[in-house]
Amino acid sequence: MSNLLLGNSVQIKELNETIKQVAPSNISVLITGESGTGKEIVANAIHYYSKRRHKPLIKVNCGAIPEGIIESELFGHQKGAFTGAIETRKGYFELADGGTIFLDEIGEMPLSTQVKILRVLESGEFMRVGGYENIKVDVRVLAATNRDLNKEVLNGNFREDLFYRLKSVNLHIPPLRERKQDIKVLFDFFVDSFCRENKIEFGGIEEDAMEYLINYVWYGNARELKNFVESIIVLRPNKKLTLEDVKKHLKQEPIENRRLPAIKIQQIDSFGDKDLILRALIELKTDIMEIKNILNELKFNNTSQVYDINNDFFIPKDKMNQMTMEDIEKAVLYYLLKNNNFNVTKVSKILNQTPRNIYRKMKNYDIKKE
Ligand SMILES: Nc1ncnc2c1ncn2[C@@H]1O[C@H](COP(=O)(O)OP(=O)(O)OP(=O)(O)O)[C@@H](O)[C@H]1O
Ligand SMILES: [Mg+2]
Repeated sequence: MSNLLLGNSVQIKELNETIKQVAPSNISVLITGESGTGKEIVANAIHYYSKRRHKPLIKVNCGAIPEGIIESELFGHQKGAFTGAIETRKGYFELADGGTIFLDEIGEMPLSTQVKILRVLESGEFMRVGGYENIKVDVRVLAATNRDLNKEVLNGNFREDLFYRLKSVNLHIPPLRERKQDIKVLFDFFVDSFCRENKIEFGGIEEDAMEYLINYVWYGNARELKNFVESIIVLRPNKKLTLEDVKKHLKQEPIENRRLPAIKIQQIDSFGDKDLILRALIELKTDIMEIKNILNELKFNNTSQVYDINNDFFIPKDKMNQMTMEDIEKAVLYYLLKNNNFNVTKVSKILNQTPRNIYRKMKNYDIKKE
């Protein structure tokens, strides 16, 4: 595969040209686009076509790092800076020295950290957490977001100075629905790579089925198309896909693949977008009904009942419909803790969460060890 974005549309061809133009300089680049449009591919490509290619490309998902530790992750910390800082540790900026740092989901970054990022962008300098010494690095900064940073600035969630500093070069990847010419190319590419990796034969696709895919509104963009291709091939190997197969399969796409599109309010007037919002809302409603049904089916303690932490008695299944997600989370967490002697490590493993997260939730929900 080439290192650039795949696609036949004018938008993608122009984007690829721009990537090659901006790559050799050290300028920071803001990559925007809805989820699944290929922002990470753009970041990889800029690094690949730059002279930093043989140095590290460090990817940081700002949305996935808890607020309390993001600065020590980015800038490192000095021994003794906080409880648990048993030795001095380098942060991502130091690890990326000579190379590139990719700040993914920068819209999620806390305001206090944004100031420090601005300083690195302007002077290349920062301090480790708990340190007094200025550290200078040679790092190229790439950032990406699927949020509308303009709006975030207006709402006070994103610093205006950092926004302007970052967006001096803004590469925007349009959603797949605005470049339908790319759908067939991506479809073929995902089919080929998946079949090659898994040694599966592809039985082809009827013309009207392909036409349907081209006109389908892919909320999750290329990522959703990729997931669709992989799952339908697994379920229908060696079979020529018909329109009916495709329609049936698209209806069964897992909930997490159907996301609400990021729509700018100014655009809602046009018919296409109204239609899109309506469809998204209908699907969202279906998703909520599905979640409710799943929850209703869940059997806790083989009694089909859920422990209600507020009233301290078991409540019947049908009452769950009146509970909020928070109520349910609180009840489940309490139930698991109580049944595991309040062993947080054990419960964190059951729920696939970090113990820190469980402690935080216990604090939020005021659940105390009994
Ligand atoms: N133009 C493209 N050519 C080839 N593959 C693509 C293209 N666009 C997206 N993909 C593939 O789709 C998937 C999603 O892309 P990527 O992870 O870069 O999206 P993203 O914009 O970073 O999404 P998110 O905002 O959710 O992180 C990846 O598997 C990627 O390889
Ligand atoms: Mg991404």
